[in-house]
Amino acid sequence: MDLHKLEACIKEHGSSKIPFCMITVTNNTGGGQPVSMANIRGVKQILEKHGIPLVIDCCRFAENAYFVRERETGYADKSLLEVAREMFSYADGATMSCKKDGLANIGGFLICNDDQWAEQFKNLLIMREGFPTYGGLAGRDLEAISVGLMEALDYDYQVYRHATIEYLASRLIKRGIPIVQPSGGHAVFLDAAKFLPHIDSLKYPGIGIVNALYLEGGVRGVELGSVMFGKVDDNGNEAPSPLELVRLAFPRRVYTQSHVDYLIEVIDKVWNERKQIPGYRIIQQQKYLRHFTCHFERVS
Ligand SMILES: Cc1ncc(COP(=O)(O)O)c(C=O)c1O
Repeated sequence: MDLHKLEACIKEHGSSKIPFCMITVTNNTGGGQPVSMANIRGVKQILEKHGIPLVIDCCRFAENAYFVRERETGYADKSLLEVAREMFSYADGATMSCKKDGLANIGGFLICNDDQWAEQFKNLLIMREGFPTYGGLAGRDLEAISVGLMEALDYDYQVYRHATIEYLASRLIKRGIPIVQPSGGHAVFLDAAKFLPHIDSLKYPGIGIVNALYLEGGVRGVELGSVMFGKVDDNGNEAPSPLELVRLAFPRRVYTQSHVDYLIEVIDKVWNERKQIPGYRIIQQQKYLRHFTCHFERVS
């Protein structure tokens, strides 16, 4: 997180209008890049001065711990568990989607260090999900999560996972296919603006690639560009996102090398036929979170 912008934001809006600050490890929308311990510590110091709680979206906490251990001075001889513990020591709360570094099929949780918050969360949970000990999950899934959280911190598992991502990234770079570099911890991000320079941002080049990959090889990716981050004002005018990306995220413990080789073939074919990929326009959208449900049609 940009510490100067954080200070400026608090100055502009005032801490009373900011109930909490959330930091996502790793940075999912910025290419899966790691968040350094120094940055988390810096964010916490600023927030503490203003009495603003820090909440971590920690769904990739173990991948982030691995990056910190590999890249940040002072962590090379620490275990991933020790790194993760330090990371969480700066947080007042955390949200977790266990389909990522919980290595589970389903589930998630919200945790906090404040008993009053916990009481309030508990009451909301009973209303919406179920009793706090199960929260909508079967006991079997809760057990899988408790094992998965520790297995995600296994150093060798992380070495293997990162090697898989780097394998794909290096093959794409060799072919001149534009991706965000260095590659992140959970995905390779195609640079859709460079991939399809003939398509204007507001004709959604990321959607063009996502559709082409699916039609060519049944590969499912997600657009992280103007559909997700474009800003539409009350008059319907739209400002594009500064980045047009397509995320190709790797599910945990699913792919073998031959799956990745297949993926490379599919991306390569789409790359070679990229000039035929059309732009799109939105024909139906919701006011909030439109990227989850909107409908498109092709434009030339
Ligand atoms: C950073 C981050 N947080 C939260 C979520 C949401 O997870 P879920 O699908 O379990 O709601 C995702 C999903 O991709 C994510 O990448």
